[in-house]
Amino acid sequence: MTRIYFNEVVTRDGFQSEPAFIPTDAKVALIDELSDCGYAKVEVTSFTSPRAIPMLRDADDVMQRIRRVPGVEYTVLVPNLRGAERALAARADELNLVMSTSETHNLANLRMPRETSFDGLKAVIDRVAGQVPVNVSLSTCFGCPMEGEVPQQEVLRWAVRFAELGVRGLTICDTTGMAHPAQVARMCEALQRRFGDLQLTLHFHNTRGMGLANVLAAVQQGVTRFDGSLGGLGGCPYAPGATGNICSEDAIHMLDAMGYDTGMDLDRLLAVARRLPEIVGHAVPGQLAKAGRIAELHPAPAHLREACA
Ligand code: COA
Ligand code: ZN
Repeated sequence: MTRIYFNEVVTRDGFQSEPAFIPTDAKVALIDELSDCGYAKVEVTSFTSPRAIPMLRDADDVMQRIRRVPGVEYTVLVPNLRGAERALAARADELNLVMSTSETHNLANLRMPRETSFDGLKAVIDRVAGQVPVNVSLSTCFGCPMEGEVPQQEVLRWAVRFAELGVRGLTICDTTGMAHPAQVARMCEALQRRFGDLQLTLHFHNTRGMGLANVLAAVQQGVTRFDGSLGGLGGCPYAPGATGNICSEDAIHMLDAMGYDTGMDLDRLLAVARRLPEIVGHAVPGQLAKAGRIAELHPAPAHLREACA
């Protein structure tokens, strides 16, 4: 049975664009619950400028207070050297560096040209070499909401540059849900061919309803690692029209039903997902928490039960 690994990003990608501040206690409690659900990684928070992402201004506190469950990696998003120093002090298990493959989105999100980002991230990789593994998340790999198409060659060019710096993993992000399954299949095929020895993760948003179809297209190309967000929350505040990530429990349920081994405790995860609307103060897009698992059957109407008795 093929093993598929899930990374939970709800407290980072999910929370970063929520309008009302989620208290530190609630973040820590949620992460502690998610830690018992079978994830390979939890992306706890980001060490970004508190002015850029006010929701995650409590990143240092959250990292200090969460319970570390053996076997789960606690990763954090890092945009620059300053963030890397904070992440090291917080004993992050992995640094997830971020830049965009689209110049315009990089300028909007990180306020610098891509080359400046690359130089800064290279300095981070040199700084942490041998201390902690590094993953690089490349944003807008399947299209930029401002520039449009991002050629596959451009994505591969940045991936090669980071692979040459010795990173452990690459995450290929569809930041605003522009990917479609045929494009995903082509991209994954090219990535697997060139970077088969790296941890390759796919990060999809369900902005146009293609999220799970894209997961399936990637799985069929042999990709085994995915980011997902509880309840389907999420979105980059610096990408126009961005909406939620693929919903973790919906994706895991689909793959479980198909016979893949996700290593997840889906019942436990669903119980956590059903508390999410209360934490964020509004309904969330995820469907499984509303519908229940395929295996959760309903009683037949009373008149039919009598007729059958
Ligand atoms: N942690 C905390 N504070 C930081 C920081 C970090 N990693 N990096 C920069 N800052 C602070 C600086 O100290 C400075 O504060 P001050 O104005 O009080 O002196 C302020 O942020 C601006 O710093 P500067 O170096 O001029 O950066 P910038 O304004 O060009 O912003 C980023 C660059 C990358 C720090 C900022 O755009 C950012 O954090 N973006 C996050 C984007 C993100 O997470 N998007 C969603 C996920 S993809
Ligand atoms: Zn995202």
